[in-house]
Parts: sequence; structure tokens; C-alpha cells
Amino acid sequence: MNKRQVKEGVYWMGAIDWDRRLFDSLIPLPDGTTYNAYLVRGSEKTVLLDTVDPPMVDQLMAQLADVDKVDFIISHHAEQDHSGAIPAVLERFPQSRVVVTPKAKGMLMDLLKIPEDTFITVEDGETLPLGGKTLKFIYTPWVHWPETMVTYLEEDRILFSCDFFGSHIAASDLFVTDQGRVYEAAKRYFAEIMMPFRNVIESNIEKLKAYKIQMIAPSHGPLYSQPAWIMEAYRDWVVGAPHNLVVLPFVSMHGSTQKMVDHLVASLIGHGVGVELFNLAVTDIGKLAMALVDAATVVVGAPTVLAGPHPLAAYATLLANALRPKARFLSIIGSYGWGGKTLEALAGMIPNLKVEVLEPVLCKGAPSERDFKALENLASSIAQRHEENGLK
Ligand code: FEO
Repeated sequence: MNKRQVKEGVYWMGAIDWDRRLFDSLIPLPDGTTYNAYLVRGSEKTVLLDTVDPPMVDQLMAQLADVDKVDFIISHHAEQDHSGAIPAVLERFPQSRVVVTPKAKGMLMDLLKIPEDTFITVEDGETLPLGGKTLKFIYTPWVHWPETMVTYLEEDRILFSCDFFGSHIAASDLFVTDQGRVYEAAKRYFAEIMMPFRNVIESNIEKLKAYKIQMIAPSHGPLYSQPAWIMEAYRDWVVGAPHNLVVLPFVSMHGSTQKMVDHLVASLIGHGVGVELFNLAVTDIGKLAMALVDAATVVVGAPTVLAGPHPLAAYATLLANALRPKARFLSIIGSYGWGGKTLEALAGMIPNLKVEVLEPVLCKGAPSERDFKALENLASSIAQRHEENGLK
């Protein structure tokens, strides 16, 4: 893959990872991903913005083969899918200096053992003139690590945003062509790694309002030549009110919890409440994370096994706690055989969630008429809460 011109003096470099299916040994990537690096040439200085994941280093080095100098390597984010090839680039261009936030400097020294005298640290708002092109560095912490920054190319009004606004899509198109597809992928990406930092991301979005942005060049997925919609989507995901929606991750062993789930779903729909149901035995955990971006209520369906919640239900609960969605209400339903501590165990797994816990429904064995009535009451309570809060 050759480098591709984005604008006069601005080039895409990097690699398309068509086959990658997992990130951090945790996050599903159904559509692969790209690692976007960018080369910006001024009349005096040449800059490389980020690099690629280490297994793709040969592709980047081939694209740099006809580049006679790289004065600076801008490292927006220390995670290795962008920083991992910096040592190889430094070997080829030993005079280069790595431009980072002070926090990123320490992290890159830890992660990649880059010598301290290789770095130049920049302050928030500092500029770097390249000759006819000027880079401005903007701190944007917690998208999604503490050291992150973005770069604004003033003359071309391009925002190099690294993970911010990115999407995991392996595609040959340089720019967004299918907005619906990129919206889904960007939302999935936001849900999986950025949702826990919504409050800080809100400040970062506010900060970017000061800039006229004509193009966003992220480090994953296609570039945005019309960036307004993705910035608006982020604003909605971060500060928009939750929807009139219940997310219901569940697992059932012998069908009793399944019956409870089915009854609750029917009752919720009857009350005009939207439902997204995820059978944890087969679900894509990324889809569950995406649904959590919008849901006002989470109901976990968990049978009791070995005296506690089914491990798949425990996993989904821990994940929801880690992702810190904006849900306002939570409940638990499920069947048990003879006893156990399912309720207590799950309740202890959600300290991060600022939710009102609605009356759980646990039943012994198969659900009885009394249990079905309790589920109808739960659906009614959820619908009432949503209505009282004006959720649509
Ligand atoms: Fe794409 Fe946080 O690295």
C-alpha cells in the first residue's frame, strides 16, 4: 500500500489490517481496522504524525523509503497501535525528535524504552512551524488514555485526532463514503473505550469548538471530509439524554430465566418501551456496549449457578460497570434452584453505576404466575420512570 495524498503536502501512510478480529485481547473488531499515520511536509520541516501497530512496521517503512528526512515524529497517544513503530522510524531517521505531552513521554519511555533525550514535550496550545504549515497541539486527555493530545494543521484546517472520532473499519476508501457504516463503527469504538470518560470528552469537544475544522484525520478508519456529523454524534453519545430503551443482557441454562426474559420483554414492549436483548451465550459484546450508549435502563438476566450468578452474566455486569454508561435504572431477574447469593454478588459489581435499583425478580425453579406478575410490575415501574424523566 503506497502513501496517499490527502491535501497538498499532507499524506496518509499506514496499513489496513483486514484480518484483525480482536483488540486488547478483549474487543471484537468485526470489520478489521486501519492504523493511519500522516506525513506533513512544510518548506522547512517534515513531520510524521503517529506510526502503526508493530506487526505492520514494514509497510510504514516502505512508504518512508523515498522520504529523505523526518524532523519530528508527533506521538498523540502512547498505545502501541500508534506508537509501536516509533523505534523503527528513529532507527531510520536518528536525528528525529519525538513530540509528546509530558505524560506521554514517561509512558513511551516505559512501554518502548525510547531514550529520554529523544523527546520534545509540548504545552497545550503550543505551535510548531514547518514552513508554510503550522501544527498546533491541543491536549485532549482521556480519549482514552490520560496522555492524549490531537494536532490541528492551521493552514489546511485538518484535525489529526488519533483515536478520537476513530472507527475500526478496514476499507480501501480513504474518506468516508458510507456514513451509516462509519457511524455504527465509530459508535462501537466510542462505547468500548471512551464511554467511561464521557465527562472529560465533553470538555474536549467544547475545547475543539474554538477551531474551524474542515477535515478530521483519525488514526483508525476513514477520514472525515465533512466532519460536522461525527462531532454531533459524539456530542449526542456524551451528553444526550438516554433513550426510552432497556438493554437486557441475559443467559439461561434450562429455560426458566429465558421464560422470565421473554415475559418481561413482551410486557416492556406493551408499555411502549424499546428493548435490546442480548443472549450472552452467543452475543457480540461490542453490540452490547453500543446499546449501553443509549439505554436508560439495564436489566441483567442471571440464573444462579454454583451459588452465584452465571459467570457470563457476571462478566456482562462487570463490563457495564467498567463502561459507566449513562443508564439511570437497573434491575436483576433470574431463576435459582435452591439458593445462593446471585443478587448480592451482582449488586457488589456495580459501584460505578449511578443508578436507581428497581425491585429485582428472582424465582425458585420455573417462574410461577406470581413471578410473571412481578415481572409485569417491573416493566410498569421502568415505563413509569422513563415517562417521568421525559425519555424518548
Ligand atoms: Fe488506537 Fe488507543 O489506540
